[in-house]
Amino acid sequence: MTTMKKITILIGSLRKHSLNRQLADMAQAALQGKAECVVFDPAEIPLFDQDHEFPAPEKIKRMRDAIHESDGVWIFTPEYNGQLPGGLKNALDWLSRPLKENDPDWKDTAVWGKKATMSGVGGKNATKSVQEQLLSLLKFMGMDVMTQDRAQIAMSPQTMETSDLALTEGVHEAIDAQARAFLEFLK
Ligand SMILES: Cc1cc2nc3c(=O)[nH]c(=O)nc-3n(C[C@H](O)[C@H](O)[C@H](O)COP(=O)(O)O)c2cc1C
Repeated sequence: MTTMKKITILIGSLRKHSLNRQLADMAQAALQGKAECVVFDPAEIPLFDQDHEFPAPEKIKRMRDAIHESDGVWIFTPEYNGQLPGGLKNALDWLSRPLKENDPDWKDTAVWGKKATMSGVGGKNATKSVQEQLLSLLKFMGMDVMTQDRAQIAMSPQTMETSDLALTEGVHEAIDAQARAFLEFLK
């Protein structure tokens, strides 16, 4: 019997018609029946402020609890000026921090040791730069990152015009392959 995995999805874009959100939807369809997903985007995540870290805001607690209960984290993000979007970086800064105040164990975070993967849709660079940064950031945060089979999608001109990701060739194949690889990585 195969057990259902739990995956927390973090999306780097706030935009309603976000291509990265559409990619996350495709991934959830590919994971149907094999993993339960819970999705967070940067909306309403307060700006990280060390003066107001403990107790953590409710939204942060929910995100940390979801990750704690998950087998892995899957991040979908655009590239802004070759870098991580600010909202996602802010969420990751929160996740990098200890759960308890004055905890001498700095590895006692919601993400230390947690398995992770990433995907992205962008322009010609297909989010390669942001994924390199994210890879190094997640490793710094103690996460166990799957390096192979990362979907790096360059949107087609038709997708750019319509905001319909399905109009970019090869997207489904790439995300299906990554979903299979991530489920294997989570075993
Ligand atoms: C502030 C800003 C900076 C951007 N910089 C880049 C970039 O460096 N590389 C890139 O491929 N696309 C860049 N783009 C274009 C995004 O890839 C494109 O808007 C994408 O659709 C955003 O993702 P989303 O659809 O999930 O919101 C930028 C867009 C914005 C708004």
